[in-house]
Amino acid sequence: MDTEQGIALLGGLSPAQFMRRHWQKRPLLVRGAFAGGLNSLGRRELFGLAGRDDVESRLIVAHDGDWRLRRGPFGARAFPPLRQSGWTLLVQGADLQVPAARAVLDQFGFVPEARLDDLMVSFATDGGGVGPHFDSYDVFLIQAQGRRRWQWGAQQSLDLVDGLPLKILRRFEPSDEAVLEPGDLLYLPPRYAHNGVAQGPCMTWSVGFRAPSRGALAAELLQRLAQEAADADDTARYRDPHQAAVNEPGKVPQALADFARAAVDRVLAQPGALERALGEVLTEPKPNVWFEGDAAESLRRDGVWLDARTRMLFDRAHVYINGESYRAAGRDARLMRQLANERSLPRRELALVSPSALALLQEWNDAGWIHGLG
Ligand code: SIN
Ligand code: CO
Repeated sequence: MDTEQGIALLGGLSPAQFMRRHWQKRPLLVRGAFAGGLNSLGRRELFGLAGRDDVESRLIVAHDGDWRLRRGPFGARAFPPLRQSGWTLLVQGADLQVPAARAVLDQFGFVPEARLDDLMVSFATDGGGVGPHFDSYDVFLIQAQGRRRWQWGAQQSLDLVDGLPLKILRRFEPSDEAVLEPGDLLYLPPRYAHNGVAQGPCMTWSVGFRAPSRGALAAELLQRLAQEAADADDTARYRDPHQAAVNEPGKVPQALADFARAAVDRVLAQPGALERALGEVLTEPKPNVWFEGDAAESLRRDGVWLDARTRMLFDRAHVYINGESYRAAGRDARLMRQLANERSLPRRELALVSPSALALLQEWNDAGWIHGLG
């Protein structure tokens, strides 16, 4: 992708300009970002997804200032009638189920994949929405079908109404508003107050991002590193031939505290250990994701592509896929990086991978992580 080239998706801004001026800083409204809207996922198909137990869905019904929230899966009869106003169905992870949804995410490839979360699709009847709220992450709201009136603003107070099953702002003081038509897009930075109210039946696709909190990330990394340390079976033991006699036996010896710190530092200082743990954590599939390998998939050497559920990233020395890491160098590394960036590797490039990399691709194919090899 040429990040300096203006694109219709961003209203003529280049990805580089967008990232400098808007990303995490200020909203952007783009009219006609997706000409004609997004029609590849109909209401019935969305309701079908909400009926599956491997798909996360929520139903929100507004009742005179009260909000009811139910979590899926939903049977066909669980939804209020379409003529009833003020309800909305939200389906997470549509990108994992619908190729056209993944294709939309791919258009936002100017943001690192490590920051991408998922594509949520909502359907609302007239007046429906999730109420005035804020999200902790960046979001691109795409008007897929119908119309929705959005209001938004950078208000200071983000206090929430107590006792509701969803986050509703106590006060909502929007500074801007617009009625989004099919194909329009609104980017909002994290913690921007916003409210979208459907004007007639409406579908919104939201491209959501993730940003780990420092504490949670440290916990996940340390958990991985702890496992590595345990596997390394380092039996060097604390010794204290110079320990003097003590009159405070309850006190932790300083030398033991130093030994402990050195032990932890040693694990962290292993070359590539932290990077490896990070890559594995970032590519760990979501808890409700599982893969089904198809060993009978026929041999088609016309290239390989990643399964929609597969997460693949790389750094200087490794490639990461679905929570696992592999060292990669030279031409194989270049080809694996291409696979991570483009989510596919055409036949011409596939012909160039080494026998050992091809064996790895075969393993991933058997696991259902990639497709195209038999
Ligand atoms: C929606 O699609 O109704 C909600 C999206 C959002 O406000 O983040
Ligand atoms: Co929101």
